[in-house]
Amino acid sequence: MASVPSLASTVQQRLADALSAALPEAGSADPLLRRSDRADFQANGILALAKKLKGNPRELATKVVEALPADDVLKDVEVSGPGFLNITVGDRAIVETLAARAADDRLGVPFAEKPGTTVIDYAQPNVAKEMHVGHLRSAVIGDAMVQILEFAGEKVIRRHHIGDWGTQFGMLIQYLIEHPHELDHKADTDDTEVSGEEAMSNLNRLYKASRALFDSDEEFKARSRDRVVLLQSGDPETLRLWQRFVDESKIYFYSVFNKLDMEIHDPDVVGESGYNDMLDETCRLLEESGVAVRSEGALCVFFEDVKGPDGQPVPLIVRKSNGGYGYAATDLSAIRDRVRNLGASTLLYVVDARQSLHFKMVFETARRAGWLGDDVKAVQLAFGTVLGKDGKPFKTREGETVRLVDLLDEAIERASAVVREKAESLPEDQRLTEEEIVERGAQVGIGAIKYADLSTSASRDYKFDLDQMVSLNGDTSVYLQYAYARTRSIARKAGDAKPAAHAELELAPAERALGLHLDQFGETLAEVAASYEPHKLAAYLYQLASLLTTFYAECPVLKAPTPEQVENRLFLCDLTARTLSKGMALLGIRTPERL
Ligand code: ARG
Repeated sequence: MASVPSLASTVQQRLADALSAALPEAGSADPLLRRSDRADFQANGILALAKKLKGNPRELATKVVEALPADDVLKDVEVSGPGFLNITVGDRAIVETLAARAADDRLGVPFAEKPGTTVIDYAQPNVAKEMHVGHLRSAVIGDAMVQILEFAGEKVIRRHHIGDWGTQFGMLIQYLIEHPHELDHKADTDDTEVSGEEAMSNLNRLYKASRALFDSDEEFKARSRDRVVLLQSGDPETLRLWQRFVDESKIYFYSVFNKLDMEIHDPDVVGESGYNDMLDETCRLLEESGVAVRSEGALCVFFEDVKGPDGQPVPLIVRKSNGGYGYAATDLSAIRDRVRNLGASTLLYVVDARQSLHFKMVFETARRAGWLGDDVKAVQLAFGTVLGKDGKPFKTREGETVRLVDLLDEAIERASAVVREKAESLPEDQRLTEEEIVERGAQVGIGAIKYADLSTSASRDYKFDLDQMVSLNGDTSVYLQYAYARTRSIARKAGDAKPAAHAELELAPAERALGLHLDQFGETLAEVAASYEPHKLAAYLYQLASLLTTFYAECPVLKAPTPEQVENRLFLCDLTARTLSKGMALLGIRTPERL
């Protein structure tokens, strides 16, 4: 495994060296290199520098050029405009760099210089409740970040902070005691596995029935409240029934995650209840240190800058006046556990932007209490709301929350139709079997949903539009999957011709553009890992597929003029395929070999 420096970083380094050699008074100035349409790269750092040094930018630029070494990398450097440098790198340098990437399992992508331990909190549905599109976003974005960070060499610990505790369990458990067969399965009679669907429909029915009774029957309400007390005091029978709700819900959660083609492991599911033993102590420590104070019977933390519409401060309530603990006490305890016991250097929360104030207050409280030191980073990767086609929060026509499972099924169905139609247009001997169509349909449909989510900046709201998501044209996963499949199909048709790099060849413009973009993979990943912005990886991959399309249009692969060119183009196709498939895998999306 050898990491390969990108051409951009090599050029950047040479320019920086030339800058300080030619202009020692400049110190270590940044040449400000970027990709350009005019040449391969443009550096415009000399303009600002000239201002600072009160010099003529074109003269300074000329001095820098004179200080540059001449070699394969810097084929041509030209001063242009008011004092930019236009830089063209040599074809040989491009092919050699790409060949070094191809020789490495990691495509030459280096590990992070100082990897740490990130505890990531994502995919956190609530027990006894249906999952909705918000849970989808957390799962999809979180899973991509896990893959990306791990690939960068970070140690990643996953935490699925499921909502498995709270007063609603009093009502649910009491109802189950009074209607003991409500969670029984049809399947119990005939040995087949319980489906997630059945588990959820049982829970749903029970939830609705118990809620109705709770709202209409004062005595049931009182019995439910007593049940909460029993649950909190750890009464074994009550806990046993609570566990049944958790287990039943997990059957459902896992079925959804499975459909999402996502691996969730049981030991990583540590819900709110997992921190029950710490809550007392968390409150005691906060009160003793003066970070929290009693206010109207509740234990509260106040903030200078957090005020309600009436101008009154809005506190973070750690313990309610009735002695009950809420969401904040659990999150604070979880921070203590994650830093102290799991050794986190970063805490990452993939949670809806509507909870941003909560996390701001929780992080600040943990800092004041000394649980989050300067050496630990706490970040909420906050995501926006999923909207319907009409731009309003995503609801069914009846105004109900859309069931996630229905959405996934519909996406798979639509994608299968697209795959089938496309498959039917292929010559007889290349057609997919029905089984392949079903398998690809799922990979394309789930990929479409994930990609639509991941290709928009997480902080933005996005429109859930299945028609657009499964379209073959435009910025969709299907387009990327077809681009990948096409490279594989060319490879199959190549017969005896094998991919091989030929550094002596002159490259066509479309080959250069594709090659230079391929060379940026590692830098893109480093940026995405540091900024928690998976949409930048999606944008990179989309551009890669677009450059590949142009390359095909301008550079025949199997019909290239010489055998060396055929091999070199096959080599470019192959490296593009590997880069696409690795990038898509990091986003949690499959790239089938044939589509
Ligand atoms: N279960 C919560 C919800 O459905 C999300 C939990 C987020 N994580 C946390 N540590 N608070 O909104």
